[in-house]
Amino acid sequence: MNVLLLGSGGREHALAWKMAQSPLLGKLYIAPGNAGTSQCGTNVAMSATDFEAIRNFVLANAVTLVVVGPEDPLVRGIRDFFLADEQLRHIPVIGPGKTGAQLEGSKDFSKQFMFRHGIPTAAYQTFTKETLNEGLAFLETLRPPYVLKADGLAAGKGVVIPHTLADAKAELTAMLAEAKFGDASSKVVIEEFLQGIELSVFVLTDGISYKMLPAAKDYKRIGEHDEGLNTGGMGAVSPVPFADAAFLEKVENRIVKPTISGLRSEGIDYAGFIFIGLMNDDGDPKVIEYNCRMGDPETEVVIPRIQSDLLAVFEAVGKQQLSKAEFSIDPRTATTVMMVSGGYPGDYAKGKVITGLGNVQNALAFHAGTAQKDGEVVTAGGRVLAFTAFGHSIEEALHLSYSAAGEVSFDGHYYRRDIGQDLIRYMERHKAGR
Ligand code: AMP
Ligand code: GLY
Repeated sequence: MNVLLLGSGGREHALAWKMAQSPLLGKLYIAPGNAGTSQCGTNVAMSATDFEAIRNFVLANAVTLVVVGPEDPLVRGIRDFFLADEQLRHIPVIGPGKTGAQLEGSKDFSKQFMFRHGIPTAAYQTFTKETLNEGLAFLETLRPPYVLKADGLAAGKGVVIPHTLADAKAELTAMLAEAKFGDASSKVVIEEFLQGIELSVFVLTDGISYKMLPAAKDYKRIGEHDEGLNTGGMGAVSPVPFADAAFLEKVENRIVKPTISGLRSEGIDYAGFIFIGLMNDDGDPKVIEYNCRMGDPETEVVIPRIQSDLLAVFEAVGKQQLSKAEFSIDPRTATTVMMVSGGYPGDYAKGKVITGLGNVQNALAFHAGTAQKDGEVVTAGGRVLAFTAFGHSIEEALHLSYSAAGEVSFDGHYYRRDIGQDLIRYMERHKAGR
């Protein structure tokens, strides 16, 4: 198989690393890729959303499978683009069609979908500029904190959680009347605040059957103890100790099965990953959000735990024969620690020379924002490297992730030192029976 993988982050390096191990692989192309993906295949200087360029490349290079990393090409309809083209139609795309991608692309769509299929989630109402006054009145009926979500994609910034009624009203007004997030906030979902601990569950589906991938927890804030601004994710752990077999069975029965059958019964063309962000509400899972792709940095712990040949699994998705695919998971714990540029998630410098990558041992250094320049690897983004390691416990895996991070340096580099500590404390309390 000749594969084209779209995207350029740590998620894509992890996917490329895994696919490069498959005996089924012919050529692997990554567009646009990063310095890490170039070790697994050939980087192609092409935007993941330039469908015409992708079409020409796929035909010229006899690509037989397209794997889509980020949400953007999916929400813009890359799968539909392939299906509408006589010459591309037979080439499987791992990723849902435009309508399925609305599970991530529109909060209002995904809430309506969940309610239609009885999938547990926070109560909500949706408002527009025309119904701003009703929205303000609705806020008065709720208790703080308030959860306001821009309907459309807003680069991960579209969810705001004000703690006072005045702030919530100001925020709603800014989103609807002042288009704070542009078109993305032309509709706003206001929903009930859910208490509990968050985790994410990942599913791969061919539209008929599905495989549950390992669950993971990520660490979104820039600062230790979950303080400071939101980021794309500063680290991840898989599996998640509080997501035991009984909890995951509830997730599968109450959420995964109705999601897959709901997509099917509505005739929504979905073949790809579903990322389900969950709140563990006192042992009961509730959906916070769907994404139509894998998470980053969750992929950097989830994909290495898959023991089976990922390309064989993708091939089965393309043929709608996923139920027949061999699929096994490494029982060990994987952790990843993200090294970022100084200043991230605000402004940061690029082009800093990265040293020490050759000294990394007993861990994988997945590249996120990196590039090659004059024979050196330099920084090219906010999130730069994810250090993934395995262990028989979270502590053991973290020890190796942090040892690896300690070998690598660049001007202004930063990483959180407390990834997984909440889970270690949870295990200790659990053992003590509290
Ligand atoms: P999202 O962009 O949908 O992932 O939301 C960003 C973050 O906001 C989530 O990871 C949660 O931490 C938080 N969040 C979203 N919805 C809720 C909710 N209904 N209750 C509590 N926290 C929420
Ligand atoms: N780590 C969260 C995300 O990929 O959306």
